[in-house]
Amino acid sequence: MHKDLYPVKPEIAKNAWIDESKYKEMYEQSIKNPEEFWAKQAERLEWYSKWNKVKETQFTKPVSIKWYLGGKLNVSYNCIDRHLKERGDKVAFIWEPDNPEAAVRKITYKELHKEVCKLANILKDMGVKKGDFVTIYMPMIPEATFAMLACARIGAVHSVIFGGFAPDSIADRIADCESKFVITADAGYRGSKVIQLKENIDKAIVKSDNVKKVLVVKYANTKVEMKAGRDLWYHEEVQKVSDQCEPEKMDAEDPLFILYTSGSTGKPKGVMHTTGGYLVFVSMTHQYVFDYHDNDIYWCTADVGWVTGHSYIVYGPLANGATSLIFEGVPTYPTPSRFWEVIDKHQVSIFYSSPTALRSLMREGDQFVKNTSRKSLRVLGSVGEPINPEAWAWYHDVVGDGRCPIVDTWWQTETGGILISPLPGAIGQKPGSATKPFFGVQPKLLTLEGKEVQGAGDGVLVLADSWPGQMRTVYRNHSRFEDTYFSNYPGYYFTGDGCRRDEDGYYWITGRVDDVINVSGHRIGTAEIESALVANHKVAEAAVVGYPHDIKGQGIYAFVTLKAGELPSDEVRKELVQTVRKEIGPIATPDLIQWAPRLPKTRSGKIMRRILRKIAENQPDQLGDTTTLSEPGVVQELVDNRMNK
Ligand code: PRX
Repeated sequence: MHKDLYPVKPEIAKNAWIDESKYKEMYEQSIKNPEEFWAKQAERLEWYSKWNKVKETQFTKPVSIKWYLGGKLNVSYNCIDRHLKERGDKVAFIWEPDNPEAAVRKITYKELHKEVCKLANILKDMGVKKGDFVTIYMPMIPEATFAMLACARIGAVHSVIFGGFAPDSIADRIADCESKFVITADAGYRGSKVIQLKENIDKAIVKSDNVKKVLVVKYANTKVEMKAGRDLWYHEEVQKVSDQCEPEKMDAEDPLFILYTSGSTGKPKGVMHTTGGYLVFVSMTHQYVFDYHDNDIYWCTADVGWVTGHSYIVYGPLANGATSLIFEGVPTYPTPSRFWEVIDKHQVSIFYSSPTALRSLMREGDQFVKNTSRKSLRVLGSVGEPINPEAWAWYHDVVGDGRCPIVDTWWQTETGGILISPLPGAIGQKPGSATKPFFGVQPKLLTLEGKEVQGAGDGVLVLADSWPGQMRTVYRNHSRFEDTYFSNYPGYYFTGDGCRRDEDGYYWITGRVDDVINVSGHRIGTAEIESALVANHKVAEAAVVGYPHDIKGQGIYAFVTLKAGELPSDEVRKELVQTVRKEIGPIATPDLIQWAPRLPKTRSGKIMRRILRKIAENQPDQLGDTTTLSEPGVVQELVDNRMNK
């Protein structure tokens, strides 16, 4: 563990919203008197009518999480209309296309208002009503954000699916929430590659017949099939509608969106977030964690298909009237200088990215950074996985020229917003540590048996009380919500992460303690990849674990047993990779596949993943107790043939 402390820089603290003593004072208030604290914070939004109770939350069964009960507001109103008087001509979104030669788009709050109203009216004409689910499967173009905000405007619940998911994954997600409406585009680009989005939607819809209407944005001008009566062109529909649309008065606890995320078992779950608490929380964290001020140009490099894009490209920044940059491309196209060139081009002052992107750029050499200015930068952020101290130091010294604090933000799809992170003017940083809890957040470390670890030590990370951005339920499966997050350690929210607390009370996330792997900051359940592998008729059985990967953080290591009569070969290996890409999408592509004539199992037939993990991590001397195996000889066979010696 890196012991270095990078203290708060006085020049940053001087102008920051929160300095050290303010952090202490507010943190204490937030824990001692949460109702009063969060009531005050909610004033940052405009409410049609105030709540009658701030908080009603229970972490024991029946689990129930409610904030700002009875309050009425609209998210799109708060993200757009509220700013029109003072910031109507301010740019809300800067769009930087994949191709650096193509035209940039700048959309002011006034223009955003019109675009969102028009799209909201199109949705109404399509038959979308308050409470309906709308699936959004889009490239990183401004229309993706218009779609989200248009749903919020009329009270529809959006379910955004990342463009890297394949038709089968889309079909599952459409079927789970019985969404009747889809918004997509003909195609999108990523690093010069064309992604055929509409074609994927067509294939997905064949598998789930509930979809009635598909709205298609013409963007890449690829040839697509339009099904009469079902498919509509956005550029045609937009001619027919008004640019005014009254926002729907929503209850604070009405759903705003669901987002599917992988768990350790079964299919991805629909993580549900609601209206009032979520917006208060993302607005507040965006302001304080990034120390956002009115004239900042803010850029989060995530995709809107993930929670980071929801909370910190769209809802948090817009709630604060910010200028938020949307980037369609990838860090290395056309060259590894792209990120830094975009920063100079748009004078970005706050930059929020991921360790995996930083590692891939660090590998290319400093010259790609140093040939740019980056003088506009003030705060740097990181999210998605633990950042290794080397990448942290490179980010700090080379990208930030030693001037900019780094906020290493720990959070999850389930938490809605950032829970553990430095605040630039208040909390000194240690490379690799997410540092200290945000206001209202009470982290605790427990032993596997559930005993609280006091002071410095290791444990599983749980949270003792609710915060307004917390997920409310797994859509249509509240008992899965209770079982996943509240049953292992009753009375606490269980994060699924392991963590260490040092002598200074700093938190160091050590990674998942469940069967979820974090590949390039994307969460994938090993069970999902295993079921994709066995979908291939040649496969009898598969077990998937993570292993350390230089760029991706974790790589996907699959042990595969073929059916009798099937012969292992590189061809079959390629075929299995294709199977996974087809069943889930490119993000789940196995990095290594090892043939396993037999898998290590207990006498009751359970696969011993602990042992497979050690083999994949290339630590065969740390296999631990193998005496409970039904066939102990299996292990040596696997060790001898491991893929990453
Ligand atoms: O293991 C933690 C890791 O990512 C998980 C959450 O993944 P997801 O829901 O996809 O959300 C990612 C973006 C918020 C966590 O359980 N994680 C996220 N941020 C960090 C992190 N691990 C260490 N440090 C972080 N800053």
